[in-house]
Amino acid sequence: MASIGASELVCSLPPHRPELSRITTVVAPSAVDRLYAASTLAFSQFPGGGLQTKIFSWIFGPNSLSKNGTFLLVQLQLWPLLVPNLVKLGLLPLCQSSVELEADKQCQWLLHRHFRALTFSRNLLFSLPISAEPNSNSSRTIFSSSSSLSCSSYSNSSVKELQNPTPKRDNHFVILGIETSCDDTAAAVVRSNGEILSQVVSSQADLLAKYGGVAPKMAEEAHSQVIDQVVQEALDNAYMTEKDLTAVAVTIGPGLSLCLRVGVQKARQIAGSFKLPIIGIHHMEAHALVARLTEKDLQFPFIALLISGGHNLLILARDLGQYVQLGTTIDDAIGEAYDKTAKWLGLDLRRSGGPAIEELAKEGNAKSVNFSVPMKQHKDCNFSYAGLKTQVRLAIESKKIDAKIPISSASKEDRLARADIAAAFQRIAVLHLEERCERAIQWALKMEPSIRHLIISGGVASNHYVRSRLDMVVKKNGLQLVCPPPRLCTDNGVMVAWTGIEHFRMGRYDPPPPVEEPENFVYDLRPRWPLGEEYAEGRSDARSIRRARLHPSLTSIIQASSQQ
Ligand code: KG4
Ligand code: ZN
Repeated sequence: MASIGASELVCSLPPHRPELSRITTVVAPSAVDRLYAASTLAFSQFPGGGLQTKIFSWIFGPNSLSKNGTFLLVQLQLWPLLVPNLVKLGLLPLCQSSVELEADKQCQWLLHRHFRALTFSRNLLFSLPISAEPNSNSSRTIFSSSSSLSCSSYSNSSVKELQNPTPKRDNHFVILGIETSCDDTAAAVVRSNGEILSQVVSSQADLLAKYGGVAPKMAEEAHSQVIDQVVQEALDNAYMTEKDLTAVAVTIGPGLSLCLRVGVQKARQIAGSFKLPIIGIHHMEAHALVARLTEKDLQFPFIALLISGGHNLLILARDLGQYVQLGTTIDDAIGEAYDKTAKWLGLDLRRSGGPAIEELAKEGNAKSVNFSVPMKQHKDCNFSYAGLKTQVRLAIESKKIDAKIPISSASKEDRLARADIAAAFQRIAVLHLEERCERAIQWALKMEPSIRHLIISGGVASNHYVRSRLDMVVKKNGLQLVCPPPRLCTDNGVMVAWTGIEHFRMGRYDPPPPVEEPENFVYDLRPRWPLGEEYAEGRSDARSIRRARLHPSLTSIIQASSQQ
């Protein structure tokens, strides 16, 4: 394939915000890659960060893929002055105007997958030797004639380079993060230097208290009711409008599809209307990476214990997007066990079950009830909380505790009996974490001896008892514990925005969606989406972990796109 001499890409920069011209064309996928090459060159070189994303916007409508899947309909927005150069380079027009287009769901899915791969392949461009001296005083930018870009060589770049590309420039870009995967509607605006400009969380505490858990349809409705207000408040509190944003990040999985959909729809509306790139975020990766916002020295590799209502994960984070799953739960997560125990003990669930148990446990004797530690006989790093839940339920029944009597109305003895169970449950639930962490540290150090930190995050990591017990385990093994502050441990928009920032820097993002999407548009939602592949030596010999309808892991997607 031809090589583009970078010196040929001479772009005249208008002094003010330029008028963009819109061109609709049909291009072969291979040509899209070449267009990306050009856009990335321009992207990395132009001064005035606010203009960067406007050089090219890729708008793929639902009718974007031809019947045989060979051509893409691409709408480009670009500076008129760039056009002659692109034509000269043979990048435009690559038109096949008579290609027939169709818009079924299969087509949208294929397009999405194809496009995603293209987006990720952009990372490779960062590792290319581009030297340039943009002349910020004049309206002309010239790429150094010594640099050239071979379009056929992307996939030959070394993976290591890919994983650690140095961003060309960091103009303190600003990202809006939206989170609706479970029962919290959250949004935040974060600057690329880690400055949190705003953070808004609307929790469904009343619903939670009423149903004793998350009811997907109700949760979806609750998200829909508040999403506009939450996002608006996040922008207002940051003293910004959508026009000031560089990109929008949104959780696309794992979580409840109905709920995820509300956030994704909102994010796409904003990104479409304001021509902003959009970044799909893995909820659990966000829980882990937020620790890098609060602890600036936290470098890869590190171990992460992610403990929330729906997840119990132990991972080795080797690099951004490179995770090894050391352990997961074979049934329930620890947060679910906290929530159910709280419900059965008649506690006030308005702040969710975890904090209520933590509070009550302080009054009880943790050794007064004997619960057994789960999975003692399994020498792996997986978790199980279903059995402990049953033990707790039986203990509650045997002590004749009536959950219908709220704790606030319980007699002194009744309250003490409940506190004993809360304390005993918490001790064993956390002991299970301690044992698994101890083993995970040994396993991870074998793979990555340079590990210095273990981070804990997710709602349960805001628990002080959990923190202090794990601190002892981590210190005993010569590592340091990192815990984000409680408000960043529970679901929030900051973690989503920050993870967006980390990926955006690496060139991993999608183009702005169309301004209007059809009602029946199939969103890319990933309700069951592993973070990384299982550690081969750590496969559970316990009851098999459910693998049905699993989406390919984030790590495998990133690896596959890097190798293209
Ligand atoms: O991460 P998160 O906010 O949402 C999910 O992704 O699930 O975690 C929510 C879970 C709930 O189960 C809640 O009871 C638990 O975190 N949690 C706690 C505490 N605060 C929240 N569990 C124990 N102690 C706490 N202080
Ligand atoms: Zn969470």
